[in-house]
Amino acid sequence: MAHRIAVIGGDGIGPEVIAEALKVIRAAGIDIITTEFDLGGMRYLRDGEILSDSTLNELRHFDAILLGAVGTPDVAPGVIERGLLLKMRFELDLYVNQRPFIGIAPGKTKSHDFIVIRENTEGPYVGEGGVLRKGTPNEVATQGSTNTRMGVERCIRYAFELASTRERKHVTLVHKTNVLTYSGDLWQRTFDIVAKEFPGIGTAYNHVDAACIYFVEDPYRYDIIVTDNLFGDILTDLGGAVSGGIGLASSANLNPSRTGPSMFEPSHGSAPDIVGTGKANPTAAILSAALMLDFLGENAAADRVRGACEPVVEGSTTEIGNAIAARLSGK
Ligand code: NAI
Ligand code: MG
Repeated sequence: MAHRIAVIGGDGIGPEVIAEALKVIRAAGIDIITTEFDLGGMRYLRDGEILSDSTLNELRHFDAILLGAVGTPDVAPGVIERGLLLKMRFELDLYVNQRPFIGIAPGKTKSHDFIVIRENTEGPYVGEGGVLRKGTPNEVATQGSTNTRMGVERCIRYAFELASTRERKHVTLVHKTNVLTYSGDLWQRTFDIVAKEFPGIGTAYNHVDAACIYFVEDPYRYDIIVTDNLFGDILTDLGGAVSGGIGLASSANLNPSRTGPSMFEPSHGSAPDIVGTGKANPTAAILSAALMLDFLGENAAADRVRGACEPVVEGSTTEIGNAIAARLSGK
């Protein structure tokens, strides 16, 4: 049966890299029916729509969503992020952000292979807080972090389940329990309780600042990392930087309960500085499409797509897409 995919090319290089990702999926022999949604900063500037409830309800009926990138320099920061990306994550309950990192860190000779599982619906991103006396010398701004036992537990359980499918079978909790003693304690206690259900899986804990050192100096210690929304956002940019760069970093926003579609996107943004130049590397989008194939149960095709991305191809956006597609179709 054909998979029904909602495609949001978005802004900047988004449509350029998504075109190559779709080309590669088709070259892998996977039957997909795509429906394009015109969303992002450009659409917002044109008619004011960011992501209406009716568009959101249409998206609910697809098997998966493939997104390029959204955001334009002419729209104020936060408008598209909160109104589109965060709204999708919260409303579609995409509670796991999964980002794999395979690569050779600068100065190293051996490849690391780890996955960050970032909680994607809670923490400081919920929008708790407010501002008082704005613009005056007495301005007060607060921005809280919301952590529920349910939200933390389902994310940690997903990390352990994923670890049980891997060779190393190891999960590291990353937080800042020594300073964030309320939320950190909830995370640590929940981690310890869930760990007892998985006696075959090794565990560790790192403070987030120490993890930044280990990502660069000793990335081999990691198999699966599970962490909070904000820490995960920052750590995964570092993960990309030590794993071959932004052009290779893929990402899945998952609803593991499958009460709706999951969303797949490269980690990078819309790169307005290189739009239309052919300099955008589509590999991150192609590897994100491979994560989508995994989630759709097309694991063999997903492995073939990942295999076709090795060795890394260089060239223009379409040259890279064509070369990876050609490796798949044997041409
Ligand atoms: P960015 O990721 O778009 O660009 C950062 C740098 O990396 C730029 O120099 C860019 O040319 C380069 N780059 C990015 N993707 C590349 C690729 N595939 N191949 C080669 N080089 C690449 O981040 P930036 O500049 O902070 O944000 C630009 C816009 O994208 C903003 O509006 C931002 O809000 C939005 N954004 C959207 C995201 C999303 O849709 N999930 C994520 C991050 C940013
Ligand atoms: Mg980010």
